[in-house]
Amino acid sequence: MMKTAVTALFYCFSQLGRLAGAAPVPMMGMGTLRPSGIPQARDASRDGCPCPMFQLSAMEATAEFVVESPDVVYGPDAIEAQYEYRTTCVSREGGVLKVYPTSTRFTFRTVRQVPRLGVMLVGWGGNNGSTLTAAVLANRLRLSWPTRTGRKEANYYGSLTQAGTVSLGLDAEGQEVFVPFSALLPMVAPDDLVFDGWDISSANLAEAMRRAQVLDWGLQEQLWPHMESLRPRPSVYIPEFIAANQSARADNLILGTRAQQLEQIRRDIRDFRSSAGLDKVIVLWTANTERFCEVVPGLNDTAENLLRTIQLGLEVSPSTLFAVASILEGCAFLNGSPQNTLVPGALELARQRRVFVGGDDFKSGQTKVKSVLVDFLIGSGLKTMSIVSYNHLGNNDGQNLSAPPQFRSKEVSKSSVVDDMVQSNPVLYAPGEEPDHCVVIKYVPYVGDSKRALDEYTSELMLGGTNTLVLHNTCEDSLLAAPIMLDLVLLTELCQRVSFCTDADPEPQSFHSVLSLLSFLFKAPLVPPGSPVVNALFRQRSCIENILRACVGLPPQNHMLLEHKMERPGLTRGGPVVAACPVPCKKGPAPTAPNGCTGDANGHSQVEAPQMPTT
Ligand SMILES: NC(=O)c1ccc[n+]([C@@H]2O[C@H](COP(=O)([O-])OP(=O)(O)OC[C@H]3O[C@@H](n4cnc5c(N)ncnc54)[C@H](O)[C@@H]3O)[C@@H](O)[C@H]2O)c1
Repeated sequence: MMKTAVTALFYCFSQLGRLAGAAPVPMMGMGTLRPSGIPQARDASRDGCPCPMFQLSAMEATAEFVVESPDVVYGPDAIEAQYEYRTTCVSREGGVLKVYPTSTRFTFRTVRQVPRLGVMLVGWGGNNGSTLTAAVLANRLRLSWPTRTGRKEANYYGSLTQAGTVSLGLDAEGQEVFVPFSALLPMVAPDDLVFDGWDISSANLAEAMRRAQVLDWGLQEQLWPHMESLRPRPSVYIPEFIAANQSARADNLILGTRAQQLEQIRRDIRDFRSSAGLDKVIVLWTANTERFCEVVPGLNDTAENLLRTIQLGLEVSPSTLFAVASILEGCAFLNGSPQNTLVPGALELARQRRVFVGGDDFKSGQTKVKSVLVDFLIGSGLKTMSIVSYNHLGNNDGQNLSAPPQFRSKEVSKSSVVDDMVQSNPVLYAPGEEPDHCVVIKYVPYVGDSKRALDEYTSELMLGGTNTLVLHNTCEDSLLAAPIMLDLVLLTELCQRVSFCTDADPEPQSFHSVLSLLSFLFKAPLVPPGSPVVNALFRQRSCIENILRACVGLPPQNHMLLEHKMERPGLTRGGPVVAACPVPCKKGPAPTAPNGCTGDANGHSQVEAPQMPTT
């Protein structure tokens, strides 16, 4: 293994390497979208582009970084990081809570080679599926198009990995240095994804894009020639699971028994993998919301029973069939809809086969806001007592959700999103007490994909006061969902390359097959049995960020910024003492620094100040 010598070429903005022109994209077989290979020269006319993402890439040419630490080794194949996981253990002893700080030494290993990754979307011809495909194409081709407010350019806004950033730490001036989230570890570039999928509707992807009415016309026109040869594979249609109003589009079906349908899905995955020359495939359910299926002992409660149920042709939902097929093919399966696809038997099968599964229901709009707002309210000590959420939308998802059993799946998925925040505050809420929480969804065809979400939050203030917040959120639902789908795939793939061990258990292991690290991206996060469910958005984000930081031996992001809170500098950083103030601080009255960092701004002289320990 090599020492810290190899430069970590983790990341270079995919924008910089993108294709200059809108050259036709080569296709793989019928219906597979694949990248167009070697980047061509950049379009110089776009170099002055005011697009913030583009500017950031130019500004942060240093988006690659190396961690200089004896605990981190960059080998030719993998990055290995020694990491001290410091946490606490609490026990109740004789009416007293005793808190024990604990520390566990981990070794994280991340394979550096990024695979050629294929994504199979179930429901490829839907609004989300066609929008994600269009987004990747538009970015890969670096398309721009006119709108009434000027030219727009393709980007990946809304993607945590592509448009989010992380702070690496402070520079010599005490300022934070940010890099793109995707710079933390080697990740697949979204432009390199290869797409395929299934849909019960035979419309090609260009027709699907037009039917979705999500994208500007000028963009659709440019994408049309690239999308019309993409055709979804036939899929499994079991009418009782989705709304009757969907039957008209079901013209592209896998017939036969459940066992035969399962085999066909497995053949499709294998065919895609080999014909597109892929290293890995991830399957993502973005088809219509199904009704919940009953979890019945003997039917779907164990892996064995679920497989027998499929062989006997007993009740199984299409989404569970896809999950089982994916797991049996060793492909991660992610559920973007609210129904209980991942029944206990499917979870057990995933565990047995050591395949990642994740779910449920993309966290895109109203629920995402809720998981921030309620965290803010309860976290600030306000007692939220009523949350009323109303939506209307006019896309096909809305039409499907207008049927009561499918709406019920969505209602369940949306309902528990504040539970962890309520339970975290026994000062405000007595055991069992919770806010009234009501969710309404209406189908209004005219508004199409431009979903409206109206929310009202009522909280109790001190001394009998009341605070009512009302929000109105309008946006294209699929433009929120598509970048989330991207993140799900990219993060899942990354997690497949991470393994770790502890000093006590030196046998390498992977993350649990229920990949709860993805909770940030799901409304009703699926977690391993017995794990706490976290819904609060920024806790979920920190979880991803800090685990990825651990993989390169960086401490968790703690936001303490102690460097800027001390009267005298004293923090060490990998050797030299770093001055928190831009000017050197000496004994005696501290000088006033341009950033306001002074030792005596509040009237204390340094002599009177308490000593800070040096870490
Ligand atoms: N857009 C969002 O912001 C968002 C957020 C959270 C969850 N979701 C969920 O994502 C899913 C997709 O949303 P959408 O707006 O793309 O819906 P959509 O109705 O436009 O697309 C769903 C597609 O699935 C196809 N389909 C239905 N059953 C199928 C099956 N058994 N096999 C293969 N294809 C099948 C339909 O023909 C359709 O093309 C929905 O369940 C929705 O609730 C969407």
